[in-house]
Amino acid sequence: MLRFAIIGAGRIGGVHARAIAAHPQAELALVADPVGDAAARLAAGYGAASTTDVDAVFVSDVDAVVVGSPTPFHVDQIVAAVDAGKAVLAEKPVDLDLARADECVAAVGDRADRVMLGFNRRFDPGFAEMKSRILAGEIGGVEQLTIISRDPSAPPAAYLTGSGGIFRDMTIHDLDMARFLLGDITEVIAVGQNFADDIKEIGDYDGAVLTLRGANGGVATIINSRHCATGYDQRVEAFGPTGSLRAENHTATRVQYFGADVSGASGPYLDFFLQRYTEAYAAEIDHFVTAVEAGVAPSPSLADGREALVLADAATRSAAKGGAPVSV
Ligand SMILES: NC(=O)c1ccc[n+]([C@@H]2O[C@H](COP(=O)([O-])OP(=O)(O)OC[C@H]3O[C@@H](n4cnc5c(N)ncnc54)[C@H](O)[C@@H]3O)[C@@H](O)[C@H]2O)c1
Repeated sequence: MLRFAIIGAGRIGGVHARAIAAHPQAELALVADPVGDAAARLAAGYGAASTTDVDAVFVSDVDAVVVGSPTPFHVDQIVAAVDAGKAVLAEKPVDLDLARADECVAAVGDRADRVMLGFNRRFDPGFAEMKSRILAGEIGGVEQLTIISRDPSAPPAAYLTGSGGIFRDMTIHDLDMARFLLGDITEVIAVGQNFADDIKEIGDYDGAVLTLRGANGGVATIINSRHCATGYDQRVEAFGPTGSLRAENHTATRVQYFGADVSGASGPYLDFFLQRYTEAYAAEIDHFVTAVEAGVAPSPSLADGREALVLADAATRSAAKGGAPVSV
């Protein structure tokens, strides 16, 4: 039985609490959050202890720590947890600043096999199946990868101001997905789009189209938008010489309705990440628990978190130069 503490009792802390509580070899022992009664409220739902003192986690007897705090706290909390001998599942991104991510990698050093990065989309059953069928040679390699990732609506400006920009905040999931399905990336071309004036005013984009050149000759396209009238739009297609693999959006039903004024209707896409990626979050916790119990390194790693940030930085520079190619 792996005993967990969660640091940060917000949206993602709640997601992980649910997945830990549902796992037969995991137990939520402690929730820490310095703000108000957030920790107590989350802990109460699972019979866990709670504290407003985050440092209490590092002297507690838990085996594993989920770092689900706001991004600026990740590095210090990852390092403190590893120093305390805990296994760590840390939310993305490692940090918004590559130099800080490098400090984290250096401080963790040869204990990096104790840290997993929360790129949950790798554990989505559809995307994970695509990966194993690509590895099995079903489409003869990946020549072109298309990742469509659109949010239903933009977060508030106050959030966006501290988010690090669309590439570090939102595209980072897709950059990791591109590395997951295509492999190493050598060049990034990013075009930022401005349709929303309030987002333009803070120097950010509300849409982006990226082209990533892969080391193996394949090319990935990432299409992002902060708004999507049809809901949370999450699709991936891998095209190879002997076929294609496609993972489509999820809807609440697989049954389609046909009528006089509509055909093929199956209801709206599952709403946003909490619903769309429920299975992925559960599979992510399962992978972490299984790896830690077996004493093997979980994946994606801290290094994967750093690589995604390198690509996000490259995209930020490319977009600032109007879509100039940036080598990585
Ligand atoms: N993998 C995913 O799908 C996913 C989804 C959402 C968020 N995230 C990441 O998770 C992190 C948290 O995002 P969120 O949406 O849950 O935010 P949130 O604002 O909902 O929750 C953050 C929580 O952290 C608490 N907190 C504040 N300062 C803290 C500190 N010093 N130490 C510990 N806790 C502190 C806050 O009180 C709050 O309860 C971010 O890094 C974000 O990028 C990942």
